[in-house]
Amino acid sequence: MQNIKNKINQIKELLKSWEYAYYVLDDPIVEDSEYDFKLNELKQLELEYPELITADSPTQRVGGQISENFEKYNHKFPMLSLDNAFNDNDLYDFDKTIKKETINENYTYFVEPKIDGLSISLIYQNGIFIKGVTRGNGIQGEDVTFNIKTIRSLPLSINDKEDYFEVRGEVFLSKKEFQRINDERKKNNEELFANPRNAAAGTLRQLNSKIVASRKLDVFLYYYLNREKIKTHSDSLDYIKNIGFKVNPLGKLCKNINEVIKHISYIESVRQDLDYEIDGAVVKVNEFKYYDDIGYTSKFPKWATAYKYPAEVKITNLKEIFATVGRTGKITYNAILEPVSLAGTTVQAATLHNAEYIFTKKIRVGANVKVKKAGDIIPEIIEVVNDEIYSNLKTWEKIEQCPACGSDLEIFSDEVDQYCINFNCERKIIKSLEHFVSRGAMNIEGMSIKIIEKLYENKIINNVTDIYNLKSKKNEILSLEKTGEKSFSNLINAIEESKKNDASKLLFGLGIRYVGSKTSKLLLDKFKSIQTLMSADITEIESIHDVGPKVAKSIQDWKKIDSNIILIQKLSELGINMNSLKQIVKENKNIKDKSFVITGTLSKPRNNFVELIEINGGKVLNSISKITNFLLAGDDAGSKLDKAKDLQVNIINELEFLQMLEGNNEN
Ligand code: IVH
Repeated sequence: MQNIKNKINQIKELLKSWEYAYYVLDDPIVEDSEYDFKLNELKQLELEYPELITADSPTQRVGGQISENFEKYNHKFPMLSLDNAFNDNDLYDFDKTIKKETINENYTYFVEPKIDGLSISLIYQNGIFIKGVTRGNGIQGEDVTFNIKTIRSLPLSINDKEDYFEVRGEVFLSKKEFQRINDERKKNNEELFANPRNAAAGTLRQLNSKIVASRKLDVFLYYYLNREKIKTHSDSLDYIKNIGFKVNPLGKLCKNINEVIKHISYIESVRQDLDYEIDGAVVKVNEFKYYDDIGYTSKFPKWATAYKYPAEVKITNLKEIFATVGRTGKITYNAILEPVSLAGTTVQAATLHNAEYIFTKKIRVGANVKVKKAGDIIPEIIEVVNDEIYSNLKTWEKIEQCPACGSDLEIFSDEVDQYCINFNCERKIIKSLEHFVSRGAMNIEGMSIKIIEKLYENKIINNVTDIYNLKSKKNEILSLEKTGEKSFSNLINAIEESKKNDASKLLFGLGIRYVGSKTSKLLLDKFKSIQTLMSADITEIESIHDVGPKVAKSIQDWKKIDSNIILIQKLSELGINMNSLKQIVKENKNIKDKSFVITGTLSKPRNNFVELIEINGGKVLNSISKITNFLLAGDDAGSKLDKAKDLQVNIINELEFLQMLEGNNEN
């Protein structure tokens, strides 16, 4: 047995050193096949002698655990955030405060990239990795140990055998891996991640660690504060690096604030060549001995600041402009670009909004343009680079016919957009169906645009009422390629479920001009049912606070069309709820007339919580003020959480919110 144990240990050590070379040093020392061969050998031995499997064995990284949820974990000391600096002046101000607080001027700074990922706390006991916890709200995070274990660059055992060892850092996805994941999602018709950070967040919160293992998360460590053992931040980074952690190589010790500024620009200059996203640089006082004197606010340490870089802008060539038509008939112009890598993705298309936008910016096919991402997947063209030199390029001309059905386009008197006004335009119908089933409207999960297109092309659905007759079209649907029994029954369940929705979702889904999600709710609050709204007169609609004459007129016009009235009748006959649920659900006294602000990541999309609050008589606001009653804070809550603390607004987590909801039901 001792022999086997020795052999296992030997293989483990070997694999560990290969993993370290590959994932931490980025300098492989063996071929992948050799690694796989040894790993298999270890797997076989562990299969025969399962009692010899240890928590730090490389075989423990493959995932496989499926959790129901993540356990909450209270941080030993809070995970703070950082104050921001946006320009050199902010940095000089920061330096002034530090100078004042350190009294003697023997301090230095350490500057390192600000990794755009998610902060994580890693805990080791007697040298063995035992826990990985997300930041959460800073005080309490979630235990994501199984997912963290799949990170190959993370040592599962270290040579520091203290009974409690904690190090903090940032989990991220490389730009390349992010692109790979999104390519795969695109192939599978799944919603794309907007950026590597969102993809890393989605991955870290995956309940199936096998999926996590298949996406190559990585981690940089940047925070190890052990004042007994180590005296400066730079030494702490050297220390953790020496015991096997991945530390960012761009960190630099700087003698004074001018050197800091220089290094911040240097990091910015190499930003686009890095294989991971950064959104700034972090400046930290290097000597721990000053930390207590410099102090902390409730939100961040005063001995550090984060310099934020502006959004990345790239120049590329505009190859083509094409138009698409949306559900309302609105024409949107889009650009096809020479592929360029921008903020983590390869960008080859950008929105140009409308013809007016293209004219005013003198955008022409063939010109070089500046692109940036505005938080969305689709980037935006900011301007043409040096437009004079493109005067020889053909002036762009707007289209006059719908790109889908060919009918003449119109511009309404008070707008700049062009519209296709053909009721039978197929693209408009498909886009309206897509809107009807979307999350904010009837929320029919599984009914993607691809499925809608297929059902429409095969004449299985022509309008929204047909969605509720899909049950009887089972054979036709199953015979369409790629649709299995299981997905069919899931789809039917989602359709049936949608019948119970609050009627404001149906109203929004109908896609009446100017009747957005918020207005739909206001209208249903007042009229209680779609039928009453339909028989209301224009002055009654207009009189609602926050609903203007534009909305009232649009509803009035919609009602004048016979087919619309028939549609409402049909939907009602099909069993779709036409009433405001606020009427039916007893209003919850914990929530009624209370105002809520929602922030951070919750277990379900934000809209679910908005609905729960509104159905129970509460209100959801966008920003915190003294009069806010509750902040519902999920994970990674940012500035709103800080503000709520400052203003002494009640902060509740998801569980507390659900208790508030339930509390009333017992009454
Ligand atoms: S230090 C107490 N260093 O930025 C100070 N943070 O906006 C702890 N971040 O919550 C943070 N790169 O998630 C530090 N090199 C770096 C960082 C970094 C990214 C994140 C971290 C923090 C957030 C603050």
